[in-house]
Amino acid sequence: MFRIKPFLDLLATSKISILGAVLVTTAVGCDVMLILGELFIFETNPYIGIVAYVLFPGMAVFGLVLIPVGMLLVIRKSSRDPVGKVIRRVRAKHVFQLITSLTLINFVIFAFVGYRSIHFMESAEFCGVTCHQVMSPEYTVYQRSHHSGVACVECHVGPGVGWLIKSKLDGTRQLAGVIMDNYSRPIATPVHNMRPAEHICGECHSKESYQGNRIKVNEHYESDEANTRTFSIVNLRLGEPEHESDELRGIHWHNNENHELRFWSTDHKREHVVRVELLSEDGEKRVWTRQGSESESLGDEHLSGSHSEMGSDELTQASDSHLIERLMDCVDCHNRPTHVFLPPDKALDDLLADGTIDPQIPWIRSLAYELITKEYETDDEAMNGIAELPDLYRERHEDQWAALAEALEDVVPILQELHAIYVYPEMNIEWNTYPSRIGHPTAHTSACFRCHGGLLVDAQGVQITNDCNACHHVLAEDEQDPMILRMLGDQ
Ligand code: HEC
Ligand code: HEC
Ligand code: HEC
Ligand code: HEC
Ligand code: HEC
Repeated sequence: MFRIKPFLDLLATSKISILGAVLVTTAVGCDVMLILGELFIFETNPYIGIVAYVLFPGMAVFGLVLIPVGMLLVIRKSSRDPVGKVIRRVRAKHVFQLITSLTLINFVIFAFVGYRSIHFMESAEFCGVTCHQVMSPEYTVYQRSHHSGVACVECHVGPGVGWLIKSKLDGTRQLAGVIMDNYSRPIATPVHNMRPAEHICGECHSKESYQGNRIKVNEHYESDEANTRTFSIVNLRLGEPEHESDELRGIHWHNNENHELRFWSTDHKREHVVRVELLSEDGEKRVWTRQGSESESLGDEHLSGSHSEMGSDELTQASDSHLIERLMDCVDCHNRPTHVFLPPDKALDDLLADGTIDPQIPWIRSLAYELITKEYETDDEAMNGIAELPDLYRERHEDQWAALAEALEDVVPILQELHAIYVYPEMNIEWNTYPSRIGHPTAHTSACFRCHGGLLVDAQGVQITNDCNACHHVLAEDEQDPMILRMLGDQ
């Protein structure tokens, strides 16, 4: 049996060990209370998590290291005199026994706390809140998305040691960036070291889950007095399996397993696509290259000057070293599966469509749009600017104002919240900083039309399909009362 006294005696002779012991006792004591509290009394909160599962355990481990270090130093010092030598041997035996027993106890505690720590560090709260200002935009919109139940690490790290190390190294570099305050604002996108998306998304989405047709009803409001509502309705052809091969035709054809679709762009955003290659399983290759006066339409310095006289094939070869190659996967279209930063018109339309903002208020769409899209230097400035809605209304539409004053006051906080969700002046995130790559071209991305815009042609001069019906059947376009909607019984 071990005796605790010699251990304590030895511990007491070293200041370093005493410090270690104090650290361990305090940290473990406080942590046990905090964890019990978190488990049984108050709700989990990311800040408590950081203290309970990162800070205190770190402190305890540090203390545990200090104790033997201090003891060793004392023993080494005392080994020089003969009496000390005897004491050392006796004590060393006891100390060894005690440390073994304590280690067993510690092992149990640490296994539990450690397990919860890892669990916690993989949670969305940890990622979203620890680097609060940096991640807050991504975290805020993520919480509102369909994937709010999916942990950040499921998409950004995923299983497998290789990706884990890669992401931890990357995380360390990013943490350094945050501490040194030299990270990029806004955080750059696309993310270059993500795992191939098939593995990430495929874990939950089977091929069957994204085939067939989807009717999509988009409700729009115009910026006129009546906030006129119109509908655009498309039946999206997500994919039909082919009879013989079971491969999908339609929108999800790009990801079929029996081919590889690669594309080359002149920019990191993968916006200016100049070359697309389709490699079939049997080795057959189809190539489309950018046509016409590339240097103008691309606006890229690498391709200007002497290259502009060359044919498109020569051009892409000549500047191959500047081009960025990419194997197309899910996130080339689904770049916003969870960090959904809506454009201002869509964000407003949604609020009008679900009645959060009353579309009966004349001119509300137009004025709201004007106020939320104004440029503000800070959040406070934005909140104050938007609060001027009633005054602005009075200025513009004096005759209608009196009856609406109250309703307008109610709209102010709704617009303020909307702005706070999507715009982050301190991170240089404005409306449309992170546009979705799904759909028709806008001022911010050509989306599908990076390739389907008619500029990329194959050797026979045939362009990548531009046919409306390849992607969808248009059931209504900007119609106020589309017949199809009545047929669907949606109104
Ligand atoms: C469903 C998968 C998924 C989840 C869950 C997810 N992300 Fe992302 N994230 C993405 C994709 C996809 C991109 C964009 C990749 C691209 O375009 O290359 C991205 C991009 C980012 C970026 C770069 C800036 C941007 O918006 O493009 C940051 C920062 C980020 N995510 C943080 C987080 C944090 C923090 C969480 C958890 C709160 C999280 N992500 C959860 C898929 C996910
Ligand atoms: C851990 C599981 C999981 C992972 C990983 C995951 N998803 Fe999802 N996804 C879901 C669930 C569950 C839903 C349905 C949510 C709902 O209907 O509320 C969904 C819905 C969707 C939707 C339809 C709703 C929408 O937001 O448009 C799309 C598109 C989608 N996921 C794409 C992706 C892509 C792309 C990836 C990879 C970057 C991915 N998902 C990764 C579980 C996952
Ligand atoms: C990187 C280039 C690229 C991007 C981006 C891209 N496509 Fe394609 N797409 C192709 C190529 C190449 C083909 C095959 C050539 C063809 O069908 O003309 C194709 C074919 C298709 C087809 C026909 C598939 C079939 O069954 O034959 C559809 C539908 C389609 N794309 C829809 C879309 C949609 C919708 C988007 C955006 C969400 C998109 N594509 C984005 C390159 C691209
Ligand atoms: C060429 C572009 C493109 C690629 C690549 C692509 N998708 Fe899609 N996907 C779309 C479009 C467009 C939609 C319909 C979006 C909408 O409803 O607005 C869609 C819809 C979906 C949906 C929702 C289906 C539903 O029920 O509404 C899921 C899930 C999905 N995709 C998963 C994936 C996964 C997983 C991958 C990669 C294996 C992938 N997609 C690759 C364009 C693409
Ligand atoms: C490369 C594929 C592709 C082609 C080609 C294409 N579209 Fe689309 N279209 C889309 C996608 C993707 C959406 C987005 C659906 C969504 O998520 O709202 C869309 C949306 C629409 C909408 C609804 C827009 C809204 O405001 O709500 C209309 C209308 C439309 N397309 C008409 C057309 C017409 C007309 C053509 C032919 C001249 C065409 N599209 C060609 C892919 C395509």
